[in-house]
Amino acid sequence: MKEFTFYDHLEDLDAESKYLAHKAKEATSHAYAPYSKFLVGAAVLLEDGTLITGTNQENAAYPSGMCAERVALFAAIAAHPEAKIKKIAVVAKRKSSKDLIPATSCGPCRQVMLEFESRQDKPIEVIMQNQEHKWVKASSAASLLPFSFTKESLEHGEKK
Ligand code: THU
Repeated sequence: MKEFTFYDHLEDLDAESKYLAHKAKEATSHAYAPYSKFLVGAAVLLEDGTLITGTNQENAAYPSGMCAERVALFAAIAAHPEAKIKKIAVVAKRKSSKDLIPATSCGPCRQVMLEFESRQDKPIEVIMQNQEHKWVKASSAASLLPFSFTKESLEHGEKK
């Protein structure tokens, strides 16, 4: 399977991905980003069609804040512990504009997505807009994180 597919416009994506990006955009109105003013929304689609959104939640003690993707993913699994995640879309915008701006998930969010893939033994599609303003559909979190650290990494040299 192709790891990445690129699209010039959001309209060019499949209906489900467009819907998810649209829901992520709606969610940005609930972002709490008084420090960066960078509003991020994430929308997670479960295999059964359930949709869960998340937004970035900043904090005066900066590292205590959390990215939109992890807010959405952890909320999804906390409420639906048996569920499998099919897809996640992440978008960003400024408060002053309705237009979306590029937002590619940070390393820790990719790492968390990867853990979900490992837990559910199924890839998660990731939709986001790259720095060249292209929409990217990644076929898995693993494709976004080569040479990653996983539970298998922890098992090397472990006594059985
Ligand atoms: N942010 C996210 O929510 N997701 C990402 O993948 C990248 C960054 C947030 C964290 C912080 O609130 C703001 O964007 C600026 O870094």
